[in-house]
Amino acid sequence: MKILVIGNGGREHVLAWKFSQSPKKPRVYCAPGNAGIAGQARLVPIAATDVAGLLKFALSEEIDLTVVGSEAPLALGIVDAFKKNHLKIFGPQQEAARLESSKVFTKEFCRRHKIPQAGYAVFDTFEEAKKRVETSTFPLVIKADGLASGKGVVVAQTKTEALAALEEILVKNRFGSAGRRVVIEEFLKGEEASFIAVCDGNHVLPLASAKDHKRLLDADRGPNTGGMGAFSPSPLVTSDVYEKIMEKIMLPAVKGMVTEGFPFVGFLYAGLMIGNGEPRLLEFNVRLGDPEAQAILFRLKTDLIDVLEAALSGRLNETRLSWETKASACIVMASKGYPEKSEEGIAIEGLQEAGALQELFVFHAGTALKDHHIVTAGGRVLGVTALGSDLPSALDLAYEGVSKISWPGCQYRKDIGK
Ligand code: AMP
Ligand code: GLY
Repeated sequence: MKILVIGNGGREHVLAWKFSQSPKKPRVYCAPGNAGIAGQARLVPIAATDVAGLLKFALSEEIDLTVVGSEAPLALGIVDAFKKNHLKIFGPQQEAARLESSKVFTKEFCRRHKIPQAGYAVFDTFEEAKKRVETSTFPLVIKADGLASGKGVVVAQTKTEALAALEEILVKNRFGSAGRRVVIEEFLKGEEASFIAVCDGNHVLPLASAKDHKRLLDADRGPNTGGMGAFSPSPLVTSDVYEKIMEKIMLPAVKGMVTEGFPFVGFLYAGLMIGNGEPRLLEFNVRLGDPEAQAILFRLKTDLIDVLEAALSGRLNETRLSWETKASACIVMASKGYPEKSEEGIAIEGLQEAGALQELFVFHAGTALKDHHIVTAGGRVLGVTALGSDLPSALDLAYEGVSKISWPGCQYRKDIGK
């Protein structure tokens, strides 16, 4: 069996790692991958957004199953293109991927299907949006409609910050067509959790819960990032909260997509704000989270190939997942300058020492091989992931791994899971 993973981050590394452990002994490919993924998969030098190139490769190599890691190829319609060519691929079709690629679509979808979310209004001119901001109370959340690599959301504490964000998006066109419209949203209080499920169009099979740390600096200071660390399970998702998430958010979303004519097949990720035991939706993503995937899949005992094949044949209702009862933690190590820019080509030391620790794995994100040495090649560089009998022990081990790795300018949070 041949499996192709698409992407080059830590999430794609844990996918390749998980597939490489399957009793089916598949041959795993990853396009384009990174220096670490090369340990588990054969790298294919085709960009994740080169849909035509990936299709040609999958056809000529007779790939049995393709799994898409990131949102960009999904929004470009890679699933539609592969299906047209009778190739098996796991992920939502382009229309269903709008749950992530358009915040306006998602807000309106949630309104139609009574999914609890923040109150909002949509604007396509700076003047109209400004009028709204003039009469609002703060904080207030400003979101570009389209995909903006996690940079399109601003939690504005003041009117000045809100107007600056609107100007960036609607006047200076910082995000191009992704910023043609903005959502101005009520600020929700509470604690965040990530809830990800495998969906087959009709059924929802939740993965273990997780918590991501989005801000760059300790104590949730600094700018938002793609995620600086994660752990699983999240104690916020009690059985009561779990039931509410399923009943009020996940099941209505999957049913809603069926009624609207775009059944959702893929990983559906709900970014939630949980306040007073009530979950409300901040966003949907149509893929696994990164670094949540590292923390979650590190605990999954079931063969992921079986799960995805069951999803592709609409049999998820017959599938059960088995989890490691231990907790997991993933600490992201990032380049100097992240998230604004990243210093690349810097040699990373200590990977072997960290890798020698039991129950720990160093997943790679922005890494490359240069003169036989692994160097930085992106913003988020590594996700040091460990298991422990409880969360504090998982964190201790993950930080022990982190302490063995270094490069000039490396940054990471010291308070993941605290
Ligand atoms: P999003 O990409 O929509 O999940 O937003 C990115 C981050 O901004 C979230 O993880 C939250 O930390 C924050 N955020 C987004 N929307 C809200 C909201 N309505 N209230 C409070 N915080 C929010
Ligand atoms: N860690 C958040 C995300 O993947 O969107």
